Amino acid sequence: MDYEQNIENKSERRAEKIMRIGVAADHGGFELKTLLTVALKTAGYKVIDFGAKKLVKEDDYPDFVVPLARAVTRGEVSRGLAICGSGVGACVAANKIPGVRAALITDPFSAHQGVEDDDMNIMCLGGRVTGYALSWDLVQTFLNARFKSDERFIRRLSKISDLEGNKSEL
Ligand code: RB5
Repeated sequence: MDYEQNIENKSERRAEKIMRIGVAADHGGFELKTLLTVALKTAGYKVIDFGAKKLVKEDDYPDFVVPLARAVTRGEVSRGLAICGSGVGACVAANKIPGVRAALITDPFSAHQGVEDDDMNIMCLGGRVTGYALSWDLVQTFLNARFKSDERFIRRLSKISDLEGNKSEL
């Protein structure tokens, strides 16, 4: 499936399930995930929690981030938030799943441009780096942004998609 077909399918699913947001965090992101989950639910989103379901200091971010990433590529959730202490490990793990375009975000410009130009589908946050108030602003900016679908953006993403050898789990 080429990138263009892929985004058509996904935008249909997104239209159906725009309110389903997946969240995942290890111990380093647990508190921020908890706070953002409350804020998302209050704002009317349906939140699917991929764990951790409780704070366990020895847990490992791939155990939560990878199931979230698979759910995003399968269209089970519209977008994802992956949180660890720095946001780096979560981002590395998420991007191993074909079809995921995850980025560690700390500023509002990247939160929307990452979607508009690069079709970012998972935003990663550092629970030990970015405080709740800025994180919530970033989340809202990310969720309100839409991919622009300009030919040059699709062309660039197709080149990335080619690297995945059509392994997308869609
Ligand atoms: C866990 O202590 C920490 O290493 C992890 O949350 C994350 O920051 C990795 O990138």
